[in-house]
Amino acid sequence: MPKRLLYLLTLLVLLVTILSQCVGTNPDPRGPAYAGDDACKSCHRPEFEKHRGSAHFFASARADEHSVLGSFIAPANQFSFPGGATVQMVKEGSQLYQQAYRDGRPMEKANFAVTMGQGRKAQTYLSYKEKKYYQLPISYFTQVHSWANSPGFPATQPYFGRVVPADCFSCHSSYVKYETAFEGMRQVETFAENEVMYGINCERCHGPAREHADFHTNHPKEKSAQHIARIGALTRQQQVDMCAVCHAGLKTPQRSLFAFRPGDKLSDFIMADYLATGSERHSNDVHGNQYQLLTASKCYRASNQLTCNTCHNPHEDNRSNLQTYNYQCLSCHQPATAKFCTSKEMAPELLQQQCVNCHMPVQPSRVITLLPDGKPQPVADSLRSHLIKVYRQAISPAGTHTSP
Ligand code: HEC
Ligand code: HEC
Ligand code: HEC
Ligand code: HEC
Ligand code: HEC
Ligand code: HEC
Ligand code: HEC
Repeated sequence: MPKRLLYLLTLLVLLVTILSQCVGTNPDPRGPAYAGDDACKSCHRPEFEKHRGSAHFFASARADEHSVLGSFIAPANQFSFPGGATVQMVKEGSQLYQQAYRDGRPMEKANFAVTMGQGRKAQTYLSYKEKKYYQLPISYFTQVHSWANSPGFPATQPYFGRVVPADCFSCHSSYVKYETAFEGMRQVETFAENEVMYGINCERCHGPAREHADFHTNHPKEKSAQHIARIGALTRQQQVDMCAVCHAGLKTPQRSLFAFRPGDKLSDFIMADYLATGSERHSNDVHGNQYQLLTASKCYRASNQLTCNTCHNPHEDNRSNLQTYNYQCLSCHQPATAKFCTSKEMAPELLQQQCVNCHMPVQPSRVITLLPDGKPQPVADSLRSHLIKVYRQAISPAGTHTSP
């Protein structure tokens, strides 16, 4: 009997050792220089916890019942085109599909593979077929709580043929496995199935940090950060470039944005004209050209410390909490000084609660309009302008301009 127990015990010890080795090996698909978010948790719990609830964390996800916001229940699961075609969102087991119908007959059908966007304003979906991702014809728009024709898609009938480039992932995810290949004369990108790291994680912004994590694990007394870019020591241009990688609007990069590290110059990745701050760049882009707008503002040009991080915590959204942003204005524009607001429209105490609404108004996007089901007129998406200046039009309390 004791012998059998010994055998069992040895077996158990062996199993545990093997299992712990599996956990200990680096499963990060980006390579051994990366550690993955979980490796940061023990030492940076506050950043880790906050980041889990942020827009960056949810910037993309595997498409499933939880990540897809729109309804799969009739009649809300349908989108009708003016030409008579319809698309229904259907659930079969745990799989989600968009199924097109013409004259009541089933036509194309494609699966929901990836959810793009947490859905603050909208979500679009990608299907996966024969090594390619395609954008699905129907998106979800939070503003109107309904399915809508995907932006820029044909208005009269569903289109399933829009191929999605890897660029899309380089701003919405932390890694995607893809190759560039030739299809005849055409260069195409082919993707491995399910090989995506969803969301924007720690090392997507901070760069590979395995060496940093290992070093500090082995040197617990070391209190100053080693083997990681110190953001406070970067120039202002380098700091804003860390955000502009993804917040300078859509462009065609010459190098993959996945390769960008803190300290790199964005102009080495993207043609400089995309980063220009000329007036033609001052309109809101659906993909938020906050970089161009902010850097064109006097606050940015006349001060040398303003960065994106002055107002935003990169680990946490301060959504709808405009008062925290107004405080940031006051740090440079103190009341009862010459730097304060010169408007006589309100008492200074009231002005202090509205800085952002008057000087960074919510404006309709000139680039994106939505066509929700049953609405004859497209609805303009709106964005908060990052061009901080005096706007002469009247504003409503929500900050939306009433005149064009
Ligand atoms: C064993 C503990 C430990 C682990 C694990 C660890 N760090 Fe750190 N990290 C530190 C210490 C210590 C500092 C310096 C003190 C501070 O800034 O909090 C630091 C600082 C940092 C900084 C600030 C750099 C700056 O601007 O000064 C970043 C960014 C960072 N770590 C990222 C990460 C990421 C990402 C991971 C996970 C891949 C990670 N750390 C894992 C201990 C650790
Ligand atoms: C790898 C790309 C990427 C980088 C780098 C990046 N962002 Fe973002 N950011 C996104 C995407 C994508 C979204 C939209 C996510 C969504 O709504 O699904 C977003 C959303 C945001 C939002 C809106 C949050 C909300 O409440 O909805 C803010 C603010 C923001 N980013 C600030 C920053 C700042 C500041 C930096 C630099 C420190 C930065 N981002 C770097 C991709 C990026
Ligand atoms: C240059 C980086 C970049 C690229 C490329 C990019 N996005 Fe975005 N996307 C962003 C940022 C940044 C935001 C947040 C914009 C904001 O709130 O101002 C965003 C927002 C979105 C949203 C709205 C999210 C929400 O929560 O409301 C959707 C949907 C979206 N993108 C889908 C896509 C798809 C699909 C592609 C590829 C075809 C794509 N994006 C390519 C950076 C990018
Ligand atoms: C969207 C980009 C982005 C993501 C994602 C991100 N960080 Fe940061 N992080 C920054 C920036 C920018 C700073 C510098 C903030 C500043 O200067 O105020 C920073 C600062 C830090 C610091 C220094 C302490 C502090 O708060 O100033 C630590 C530690 C850190 N990050 C850890 C992490 C960890 C761990 C994760 C993942 C859970 C993470 N970061 C995800 C951009 C990011
Ligand atoms: C880091 C400091 C800083 C912060 C933070 C800041 N500003 Fe400024 N702002 C400046 C400086 C410097 C100027 C230029 C003043 C001058 O030329 O006399 C300026 C100019 C302005 C102007 C005049 C713009 C023009 O085109 O004439 C307005 C309006 C303004 N700021 C509003 C704001 C608001 C609203 C906020 C908060 C959302 C804010 N600022 C945050 C530093 C800052
Ligand atoms: C002077 C303060 C300030 C600075 C600096 C600033 N932002 Fe913002 N940002 C705001 C405010 C205010 C909002 C609106 C927040 C809300 O509505 O909840 C906002 C919203 C956003 C959003 C959400 C977009 C939307 O319209 O819903 C993104 C993305 C963003 N900022 C990115 C950036 C980036 C990237 C930078 C640096 C290039 C930056 N911000 C610099 C104040 C600032
Ligand atoms: C009700 C809208 C409104 C609010 C709220 C408001 N402003 Fe203003 N602000 C204006 C207008 C309009 C002007 C131009 C006044 C004039 O010259 O007639 C102005 C002027 C300014 C200027 C001087 C611009 C110049 O030409 O040099 C600054 C700086 C400024 N505001 C900052 C702020 C800050 C900071 C806050 C919050 C404490 C704030 N404003 C709140 C509407 C507003």
